[in-house]
Amino acid sequence: MKSLKEQFIWHVVGEAVKRAPAGQVPRIMDLGCGTASYVPSLMEKFPDFEYVGVEPIASSFAAAEENLANIPSAKAHFQLAYDSVPDEKENSFDLVFSLSVLEHVKHLDSFISLSAKYVKTGGLLVHRYDLGHALHTHSLKEKLHVFLGNYIPNVLPERQFVRYVPEPEVRVLYEKNNLKPIDTTYHQAPNHKHFEKFFKDSDTTAVDDLFAWEMKYQSEFKTLPVVEREKLFPAVAVWGEKR
Ligand SMILES: C[S@@+](CC[C@H](N)C(=O)[O-])C[C@H]1O[C@@H](n2cnc3c(N)ncnc32)[C@H](O)[C@@H]1O
Repeated sequence: MKSLKEQFIWHVVGEAVKRAPAGQVPRIMDLGCGTASYVPSLMEKFPDFEYVGVEPIASSFAAAEENLANIPSAKAHFQLAYDSVPDEKENSFDLVFSLSVLEHVKHLDSFISLSAKYVKTGGLLVHRYDLGHALHTHSLKEKLHVFLGNYIPNVLPERQFVRYVPEPEVRVLYEKNNLKPIDTTYHQAPNHKHFEKFFKDSDTTAVDDLFAWEMKYQSEFKTLPVVEREKLFPAVAVWGEKR
């Protein structure tokens, strides 16, 4: 069974593959790729794309290298996504994305600028981030970190950084970097996320249906007041297109 998050990744990559010019291998960059555990199955579904991951935590980077070892068209770079990515051409990626990263990024302006730099004109930029830490806090420590991240960001080191990310702030940064915000979608209701855990090893299509439901009813979700919408669907994806 694919999790709701994996379904989202397949959906986004599917969009990028559809938009890529015929005869050209789509290029995809994943900022803060963690262990890139989702890449091998993604490659089975879409065999023909180039994947470049960027990851600053040594243990996650090592795991990503291992997960990508047998995929000749995939590689990872060990660095924060503030600095240029060596050997990668600017303005050359059909899709640049991040998953569950923005809420941990201390310098959002630099991170979005870097991501914008690598998308090609007409290409897609999708940052999907989690407001769960801020809105459904599980521990006192998490609450404290979110408070510091929101109000005194400088006191938190990069690795412990977490905060609430207002969606309009992300859109403003897209505009500033020559990206047209084209949509914002809302995902992963906490109960659905809890539900999928019970079916990890099953071949049920229940979770596929939940994802299809998420995508089908986005316009209804958007009629809800922001506070309620984000509590119900704390994974927020801001979609942009490079001008
Ligand atoms: C919650 S993990 C998500 C990993 C992966 N994207 C996934 O969804 O499984 C957040 C990741 O963001 C990375 N990260 C945090 N700040 C970053 C930055 N400024 N540049 C690049 N990566 C960053 C962390 O190292 C971590 O691997």
